[in-house]
Amino acid sequence: MSRTILITGASAGLGAEMARQFADLGYDLALCARRTERLEGLRSEVLERHPGRRVEVRALDVNDHDRVFEVFHDFADTLGHLDRVVVNAGLGKGAPLGTGNFAANKQTAETNFLGALAQTEAAMEVFRAQRSGHLVMMSSMSAMRGMPKTMTTYAATKAGVAHLAEGLRNELYGKPYKVSVIYPGYIASEMNEHVAAEQKLMVPTEKGVRAIVAAIEKEKASACVPPLPWAPMSVVMKHAPLPLFKKLI
Ligand SMILES: NC(=O)c1ccc[n+]([C@@H]2O[C@H](COP(=O)([O-])OP(=O)(O)OC[C@H]3O[C@@H](n4cnc5c(N)ncnc54)[C@H](OP(=O)(O)O)[C@@H]3O)[C@@H](O)[C@H]2O)c1
Repeated sequence: MSRTILITGASAGLGAEMARQFADLGYDLALCARRTERLEGLRSEVLERHPGRRVEVRALDVNDHDRVFEVFHDFADTLGHLDRVVVNAGLGKGAPLGTGNFAANKQTAETNFLGALAQTEAAMEVFRAQRSGHLVMMSSMSAMRGMPKTMTTYAATKAGVAHLAEGLRNELYGKPYKVSVIYPGYIASEMNEHVAAEQKLMVPTEKGVRAIVAAIEKEKASACVPPLPWAPMSVVMKHAPLPLFKKLI
């Protein structure tokens, strides 16, 4: 039986590129997002490259929590089994706290944390029924330390989802489940195209996702990607005194 992977937020950026690269590795795909025309296009692209591969697509807004459970169970039933679920859908809106833009911060908190919680619950229901599965959580390097201004809420959601996954890993230790947390640095995508030109550490989508896919395939407990400069940087980010840290970001 082919290995199967469910990826949320597969209509763009890292999710779409993960779909391509996991298809190249032989996986059948379960892909969801709100923009289904993009998912259909990706499905055609993958099938042209790999005729016979199974690619299921569904419309999903991760803020519609009932639908998250419905779609995840539907994918599991249709494909027969989910080997891996990547909780990837997310957005990067935000405003400094107390500056009159609660709406943007609330939307980020709902999508990136509550949406991810719903996805994790739904994935774990499927995995517990199967008695196996690999949960992959897309966090961010910004989760390493409280971040200022437009990043404050986003970083808090990414620390929150990393903690959800860490808690699950603690609970499931020694059992037939795997949990990985991925901490991407700057990887080109729709989310950051407005800062791509000025961000020197930005890597192209394909290269960044190759590092993500390699870490996921190794079932790493946690991975900063690409490893350089982000693995050593994670130590600095966590431990640098605040005046020094403020100069770095
Ligand atoms: N790129 C980076 O440098 C970077 C760094 C750290 C962490 N990350 C994380 O990596 C993940 C992917 O980000 P990206 O850079 O690939 O961003 P992106 O290019 O903006 O793609 C975001 C994806 O999430 C989906 N999405 C957003 N809101 C959704 C909702 N309410 N329901 C369902 N799907 C939703 C979008 O699909 P639709 O709009 O079609 O629904 C899209 O497919 C995110 O969790 C992000 O926080 C990225």
